[in-house]
Amino acid sequence: MNRPWLDPQLPEPERIQLLLGTMTLREKVGQMHQIANVTSTSQDEELRAGGIGSSLFASGAWAGNQQDAGVRVEGLNAVQRIAVEESPLGIPLIFARDVIHGFRTVFPIPLGQAAAWDPESVGRAAEIAALEAAAAGLHWTFTPMLDIARDPRWGRIAEGSGEDPHLGSILATAAVRGYQGDDLRDEGRIAACAKHYIGYGAAEGGRDYNSTQIGPRTLRDVYLPPFAAAVRAGVATVMASFNEIDGIPVTGSHELIRDLLKGELGFDGFVVSDWGAVGELIAHGFAADAAEAVRKSVEAGIDMDMVSGLYDRHLAAEVEAGRVDAALVDDAVRRILRIKFRLGLFERPYTDPGGGGRIGAIPARRGPGIGTMPFPGRDRVSRPTNVQQTPPAGMTQSISIPESHRARARRLATRSLVLLKNTDSVLPLRTPKRILLTGAFARARTELFGTWTLDGQESDVTTIEEALRAALPAEVKLETKLFPDEAVVYGRYADAIIACIGEHPIRSGEANSTGTIDLPPGQLEALKGLRAYGVPLIVVVFAGRPLALPWLADHADAILYAWHPGVEGAGAVVDVLLGNESPSGRLPVSFPRRTGQIPIYYNHRPTGRPVEGGLRGGNRYCDGPDTPLYPFGFGLGYTTFEYSDLRLSSASMRTDGEIEIRATLRNSGAVAGEEVAQLYVRDLAASVSRPVKELKGFARIALAPGESGEVTFRLLATDLAFSRLDGSVGVEPGGFRCWIGPDATRGIEGGFDVPG
Ligand code: BGC
Repeated sequence: MNRPWLDPQLPEPERIQLLLGTMTLREKVGQMHQIANVTSTSQDEELRAGGIGSSLFASGAWAGNQQDAGVRVEGLNAVQRIAVEESPLGIPLIFARDVIHGFRTVFPIPLGQAAAWDPESVGRAAEIAALEAAAAGLHWTFTPMLDIARDPRWGRIAEGSGEDPHLGSILATAAVRGYQGDDLRDEGRIAACAKHYIGYGAAEGGRDYNSTQIGPRTLRDVYLPPFAAAVRAGVATVMASFNEIDGIPVTGSHELIRDLLKGELGFDGFVVSDWGAVGELIAHGFAADAAEAVRKSVEAGIDMDMVSGLYDRHLAAEVEAGRVDAALVDDAVRRILRIKFRLGLFERPYTDPGGGGRIGAIPARRGPGIGTMPFPGRDRVSRPTNVQQTPPAGMTQSISIPESHRARARRLATRSLVLLKNTDSVLPLRTPKRILLTGAFARARTELFGTWTLDGQESDVTTIEEALRAALPAEVKLETKLFPDEAVVYGRYADAIIACIGEHPIRSGEANSTGTIDLPPGQLEALKGLRAYGVPLIVVVFAGRPLALPWLADHADAILYAWHPGVEGAGAVVDVLLGNESPSGRLPVSFPRRTGQIPIYYNHRPTGRPVEGGLRGGNRYCDGPDTPLYPFGFGLGYTTFEYSDLRLSSASMRTDGEIEIRATLRNSGAVAGEEVAQLYVRDLAASVSRPVKELKGFARIALAPGESGEVTFRLLATDLAFSRLDGSVGVEPGGFRCWIGPDATRGIEGGFDVPG
């Protein structure tokens, strides 16, 4: 058959049009149909008929909380071969997988990555994940998750960047660029997916999949910005979220998908539903039956149906009966083909099992290399040599992690660690003779990975105990006692106690919300027993969410918040405990004192009776403080920084202008360290009430003891834009305050005007 669309010289729209013009309705619907775990034997007929557009791979794993059997290049190639060589039009499949925070090289959970306030490292992590995933035959990952989350009960807070739209947007851009690079065709690049569009993190009560109530302004000013940033960064795909907003499930929302995302934001990639969400429109009470669910989803703008199978079953009939406009199907298919062309799948549909990246033809079997997936491309220098000849069945990869990938994971893990408390500079540990190591995480391996880790390998992980033993001088006695009662007995003989506590990854992630954010049962009691001896108590907390730690805040000597730090987590924690690295992570989300304070977030709107005003009976609790235990942006280091001399380039900014805001920072302590300086702004009066503070910039600055440096932020009038009373987006004239400081509650203050 003549296939003119295969000519790579033709412009992309022409290639798409040529192909679309040749397709039958059945084949078009096939492109919109994504199944799970396709194999060349069970789905061969469907593949031959061009009835499948995509497959995702999640065998055996339930909602990302289990390692699964892994993907194999040869299996994917065999599937692709049927689609490309035996179906009438030869359209390649796009293969997807949840590569959420790394593939074989597991990076910290996304919330931990956000705590690094380091877009460059987040981008590099995405780049490495893409490189490894592409080598395994994948084209597309369902990440980054861009849901703003103000409720730590929600288990999926682990998968996102926390509560702030600005930080979320910067990291969204970094991640999308990291996965996709400049050109999706380039070696080691895969398509990203901005998810879950939109409002999923606002689930009522923090219960996953729950209904949401989000006002139109909050939707645009708080929940939308990271998605808008991802679209600007060229994200190839977007996943619609499971939730409904004020009665309308996003999967069926014309207004949110077709009008806002595709229309107003100009998104030209394709939108995939979440798992089975098309069918769930029935459970939502938004569609009476499957055919109606299909109609509403297609009309809303869901281009690809993830695994419900309902497009496959009903869409052609709905079009033929005139109940779904054929032009909507064409639009969806055009979008899907666009991404397949951009990925270069028509030219190179297969993946070289020998590590050569995407290729045009399946190579002849090569014996020893088959089944191994070395990492290609940019990391050739560090390409591992210990390739196993016959990988154990089910293993995703059979080689070790390249050192350069480990180094990036270590760097990001180190920067993600947040020191919350450090009484009398108990950390870094100086010269203990005898250390007691305790807590469930002392010997943890895969538990350090965190939720949604499908491809990490237990054998790649060093435990805290091993890392500590390796780093401590031989004469220091390290005793590990996992049973709390045994630990308590040994505790009295130690010079320092390191307790590695927290929550198992299974308590966070999808479908794992908690009704309380207290430490899991039993741990606090053990810590209280250890505290009794007066031996310095250093607590390292591993968790997928902010936990409420009021007792620790009062009684522990040091608290290091480690999230789930990934494959290099243990080394990173030990480096910080021993002072080889100075902690510099900052909280990307407010830490409540107790569950009842939720939702608590720094960028709330003012009330008529603010607590800060000191008015008795203001909006405070009568049974405890209303402030967070640790505010957004907070984190200690091993040194201290003084902020001074706030300077603005001008006292006024035009509505289309910009100003520069600077401050001087001085390292006033005795050791070198890095500070994350943060710029906050408040719009004092506007046509709608504006948040008490909003993050508008941040900068990492490294200073030697006694050294001073300057941070400069460029603030554009467009950074001050918001959804105004009349629904338009823009800045309004008036007075503004601004702060440069170490967190959302502190800083040196100034102000400027935007004249009318
Ligand atoms: C999750 C998505 C995920 C998808 C595919 C869904 O249950 O909500 O985040 O990408 O499954 O595994």
